[in-house]
Amino acid sequence: MDQKTETGALSSKDQHSQLVGLHAQIEACSQCRLCETRTHAVPGEGVLNPQILFVGEAPGAQEDKLGRPFIGRSGRFLDGMIQGIGLRREETFITNVVKCRPPDNRDPRPDEVSACKAYLDRQIEWLAPRVVVTLGRFSMQRWFRGERITKIHGQAVEFGTGQIAVPLFHPAAALRNPQWRAAFAEDMQIVRRLLEKLAGSE
Ligand code: URA
Repeated sequence: MDQKTETGALSSKDQHSQLVGLHAQIEACSQCRLCETRTHAVPGEGVLNPQILFVGEAPGAQEDKLGRPFIGRSGRFLDGMIQGIGLRREETFITNVVKCRPPDNRDPRPDEVSACKAYLDRQIEWLAPRVVVTLGRFSMQRWFRGERITKIHGQAVEFGTGQIAVPLFHPAAALRNPQWRAAFAEDMQIVRRLLEKLAGSE
């Protein structure tokens, strides 16, 4: 039986075992065609109750090979940006909207996003992040449907039970475009200030 805390939230021991179970389910998932071409599913990695939950698009070639999120060029950029706000990757949680690599790095299809939706729902519930940072348009669509990233990046919005989502450019896009790279760094500072404010109001 799950042990509930006084606030009704799961205890961290239960949060952890729920998450381990969920990640095993993701690793064995065959709910869409991507299971036929993947090497490894990539559930995500990091800590419970992270300061930031980063939600990217889908694993790339390196991530597929090793089963870990954001470990290629985009990942190195993201790691640097996390350090730039005084955090370490290990203090966050990093995952994707779609947990398996689309072949040839094509965009995830709507039915693939839908097949993975319940996994991300559970991760958000059990991880209970302070702030969700969406990386790129696929992740942004979940919280900011129909919006344009060029218009709304860096603007925090409250959702659910007091959680906050902030849309950022995808690291790969930031690496391609110097203007978006600068915007990414500025938006991370907005996230840093937000975390400081939230910590101050506890
Ligand atoms: N791009 C993503 O969106 N996710 C990864 O894990 C790696 C690259």
